[in-house]
Amino acid sequence: MTILNGKEIAAEVLTECREKVGTLQSRGVTPGLAVVIVGDDPASHVYVNSKVKTCGELGIHSRKIELPTETTQEEVLQVVRDLNGDPAIHGILVQSPPPPHINEEEIIRLLDPRKDVDGFHPVNVGKLVMEDESGFVPCTPQGCIHLLEKAGIETSGANAVVIGRSMIVGKPMALLLMGKGVNATVTVAHSRTRELAAVCRQADILVAAIGKPGFVTADFVKDGAVVIDVGINRVEDSSKKRGFRLVGDVAYDEVAPKCHAITPVPGGVGPMTIAFLMSNTVKAAGG
Ligand code: GUN
Repeated sequence: MTILNGKEIAAEVLTECREKVGTLQSRGVTPGLAVVIVGDDPASHVYVNSKVKTCGELGIHSRKIELPTETTQEEVLQVVRDLNGDPAIHGILVQSPPPPHINEEEIIRLLDPRKDVDGFHPVNVGKLVMEDESGFVPCTPQGCIHLLEKAGIETSGANAVVIGRSMIVGKPMALLLMGKGVNATVTVAHSRTRELAAVCRQADILVAAIGKPGFVTADFVKDGAVVIDVGINRVEDSSKKRGFRLVGDVAYDEVAPKCHAITPVPGGVGPMTIAFLMSNTVKAAGG
């Protein structure tokens, strides 16, 4: 059983980004990323701070825009309009999920697709479907594919099952897995799927993106499967100073012994997401 070390592979991606930032800077361009966060969700703030910190380590200019929960839709739209027109900003990210009164889709549609480093705008979704590489691919699924590639996992003709159909992970993950160059046979399972465990047991590659701690148990997993755990869930743990620990969507201890390879949580997919956000930002700046 191999534990896929996302931290290590992400570090390689970041090194490549740092080199490209150097080249851009020698041409007088400093890549700039704006990160917008509305509200006070503690996990979202941790992610956003981590993104901003990584920008600093790479020489990417970053701007964090923190808006209070009661910010109106129009105020958020105006922030995006301003960033669309700001030449120092090449990438814009609006952290998801926003508070319930905010219409996230309207904000995404307003983004300049050339600055949409999350790959959420319809133009970029369309380009992903069409396999047009000029678009931006969502960071988490891009990171998962990169992990599989780096681990030398044979994907061509493999049965891949993705659990979850979100716009951030499930849908783009399925598109990447079925794409040319990856060539997996893909099933997308979700909350209404019948016989879910039996469907998942067909998987050579199982991607869990559900958002429920420990949801994927050993009976979901075929011997020798590759398991990619996208979940990052906080569960109460009074033995920890901060009062919680992070666990994935996979019941790691019982699943790992059955696997050919598995991603841990933390230290698996999480660092890859940030690395590909940096990579997309460098691309947005022309690198
Ligand atoms: N929330 C969880 N993952 C992501 C992501 O990749 N981008 C944004 N904008 N929000 C997220």
